[in-house]
Amino acid sequence: MNIAIFGASGATGKLLTERCLAAGHAVTALVRTPENFPYSARVRVVKGSAFDSSAIAETLTGADAVFSALGAKSPFKNEDVLPRAVPLIVAAMQVHGPRRIIALGSAGALPTSLDKQPAYRRWIVQKIVYNVFLKYPVLEQISQYKTLSASTLDWTMVMPPMLSNAPAHGHYRIDGEALPKNGSMISRSDVADFMMQQLTNEQWLGKGVYITW
Ligand SMILES: NC(=O)c1ccc[n+]([C@@H]2O[C@H](COP(=O)([O-])OP(=O)(O)OC[C@H]3O[C@@H](n4cnc5c(N)ncnc54)[C@H](OP(=O)(O)O)[C@@H]3O)[C@@H](O)[C@H]2O)c1
Repeated sequence: MNIAIFGASGATGKLLTERCLAAGHAVTALVRTPENFPYSARVRVVKGSAFDSSAIAETLTGADAVFSALGAKSPFKNEDVLPRAVPLIVAAMQVHGPRRIIALGSAGALPTSLDKQPAYRRWIVQKIVYNVFLKYPVLEQISQYKTLSASTLDWTMVMPPMLSNAPAHGHYRIDGEALPKNGSMISRSDVADFMMQQLTNEQWLGKGVYITW
């Protein structure tokens, strides 16, 4: 397949790029600084920002499916990356295709995400983690979910709790309703493996899906 990747230079984006190449897919990556991107020699690189519609259109040319692992640099600043970029990506896909997008989101994107947690944990995570420490990332992900779910695309938003750089466990819990009980962490490697599987899996089309160890 021809895969377009947004956020390919990020921690999860690099894992997705690596996995796409290993699986024999052709990759186009939109990156701001190609000189720092370790896969520049092996992928079609479009240099530019995800806030630029023409760079997005160029990235999507010829793509069969899209991965997004975009995100802000700092959790403590309002960078508005997803509220600015995702509507542009979705708009371009709705006009020119492709239809399939698998986006990395986060467990904080929906008010029902903590419904399967014990009451004390629900209170701590919502009131302290989501409302205070991760206020801006959560707002970004709420916006991403709204944009994807309002689209006519074949979208899937993969919603993990905290990400780590640990090796893949190869097994994890997934749930379409809420974050599984006491789920608090998963590695980017496991998330990237699950996102890769979605290229050929229709189970989570038009849905958000929680993933955690
Ligand atoms: N950290 C966690 O524990 C956690 C938990 C759950 C969900 N998430 C979500 O997972 C996603 C990815 O996380 P990560 O740690 O893999 O991210 P990351 O390493 O911070 O990577 C973010 C990527 O987005 C790119 N980007 C940002 N603004 C851009 C723009 N205007 N144009 C083009 N590219 C842009 C960055 O490019 P540059 O290389 O040019 O900066 C980078 O490739 C984020 O949305 C985050 O909210 C994170």
